[in-house]
Amino acid sequence: MNVHDTEKVTGALVERGYAPVEKPEDAELVLYNTCSIRDKAEQKVFSRLQQFKRQCGKGKIFGVLGCVAQQEGEKIFERAPHVSLVAGSASYPRLGELLTQLESGNRRVTGLAFDSEESFETPFTRRDNPNRAYITIIEGCDKACAYCVVPFTRGPERSRSSASVIEEAARLAAEGYTEIQLLGQNVNSYRDPSPEGWNFATLMDRVARIPGIRRVRFTTSHPRDFGKEIVDAMDRNPVICDHVHLPVQSGSTKVLAAMDRQYTRDEYVRRIDWLKNAGRAYSLTTDIIVGFPGETEEDFQQTLRLLDEVEYDSMFSFKYSPRPNTAALGLPDVIPEEEKQRRLVILQERQRAIQIRRNAALIGEIREVLVEGRNQALGQWVGRTSCNRVLNFTVPEAGGEPLTGRYLPVRITRSGPNSLVGESAIMV
Ligand code: 5AD
Ligand code: SF4
Repeated sequence: MNVHDTEKVTGALVERGYAPVEKPEDAELVLYNTCSIRDKAEQKVFSRLQQFKRQCGKGKIFGVLGCVAQQEGEKIFERAPHVSLVAGSASYPRLGELLTQLESGNRRVTGLAFDSEESFETPFTRRDNPNRAYITIIEGCDKACAYCVVPFTRGPERSRSSASVIEEAARLAAEGYTEIQLLGQNVNSYRDPSPEGWNFATLMDRVARIPGIRRVRFTTSHPRDFGKEIVDAMDRNPVICDHVHLPVQSGSTKVLAAMDRQYTRDEYVRRIDWLKNAGRAYSLTTDIIVGFPGETEEDFQQTLRLLDEVEYDSMFSFKYSPRPNTAALGLPDVIPEEEKQRRLVILQERQRAIQIRRNAALIGEIREVLVEGRNQALGQWVGRTSCNRVLNFTVPEAGGEPLTGRYLPVRITRSGPNSLVGESAIMV
C-alpha cells in the first residue's frame, strides 16, 4: 500500500513538471513517505531526516507524507524545522494545491484533514512495475484493533465505486498490465457505494474476467469479513492467484479478544479449513504479533500450535509496539522487551522449519511464473509463482532474450526457506 501511495505521489509530481533524479542529493524537493505502524519505523523517519539534512540538505525543500505525517501533524515542524510540507495519505488528491503553496514560498504547508471524497487513485498515478498494477479499492479502516494506529492515520473506511475500479482495471489491461493487485487496509470489507452494491467477492470476480488480466491478487484481508463467497469466487476463477494473506495476530482466543480482533481462534481456523478444502491448493500467509500486553506463555504456545496446524508458507512477525491513540496503551501486564524478543525468535524458528519443509515438497513440480527481472550476479531470472513464492531460474537456450513480463513454466529443482530455484521447462 505504501509503495502504491508513492506511485500516486510521484504521478502528481510528474504531472506538475517535476522530474525524478538519480541521487537524492541532486533533488530540490525531498519527500519522505512514512509508516507509523510500529515505533521503530517512526523513529527511522526522524533520524533519516536529520542525517540527510546534515549531509546535503542545503537549499532543499523537505516534506513528510504518510502515516507519521498524519499522526504527528504540525509537531513535525517543531521536531524537524527544515520540513515545509506535512501531509497524510487522504490529502494526496490535493497534492497539486499543496505544491502550489510550497512553490509560492510558503514554508508551513499541511494536508491533514479527512474531508477528501476521492483519495483512491489519481489519473496521474505513475506505476513502477510494467506488469503488475496496484489498484486501491478501499481506504481507511473502521475496525479498532487495540494495538493499531491505522484507523487514526488513514481515517474511516471508504470504498470506491465498482464502475471506477472496473474501468481502471480494463484500462490497465489495455495498456499491457497482466497482473492486478487490489489493495485496501481491509480489502475484503469492500462495499460498493453505487446501486450495484457489489461485495468484494463479486468485484474480484469481475476484475478477473477482464480480457488480458492473467493474475489478480488482493491484500490485506481481515478474517472477520472473510466469507465463504470469497473462496468460491477464487475456486471459480483460476486468474485469481493461489494465495491468501490472512493475518491472525495471535493463536489465543483470549489475546484475540484483548486485541479486539472480532474473531476467535476457532472462527479463524474455520476460514482456513474452507481454504484447505477448496477446489485447488491455496498458499496461506499471515501476520503475528508477540508480546501483546497480558500474553502468557500458554497464549504464546497456542500461537506456536496454530503455526503447526495451519502450516503457513510465510509469515510477517512483530514484537508488540505501543502506539499513540490506541486502546492497548492503557493495558496492564506489559511484556518486557527481552521476553518479546525471546518469543519472536522462537516463533520465527518454528516458522522457518515449516517453510523449509513445505518448499522442499515442491521439488520436481512445475509452476508458472511471471518473470520479474534478472539477478545478474547469480545468472538467474527471478519469477513469482501464483502462490506468491519467488522462484529463481535458469533458461537453457535463452540467449540474450528479455524475458521480463513473460509467463513461463518452471521446474523446481532446489528450495530454501524463503525461495525456490528451478529451470525453465520450455525452450525460449
Ligand atoms: N505493534 C506490532 N505490530 C503491529 N502491527 C500493527 N500494529 C502493530 C503494533 N502496534 C502489525 C500487525 C499487522 C501488520 C501490518 O503490522 O501484525 O497485521
Ligand atoms: Fe489495524 Fe485492525 Fe484496521 Fe488492520 S483491521 S488496519 S490491524 S485496526
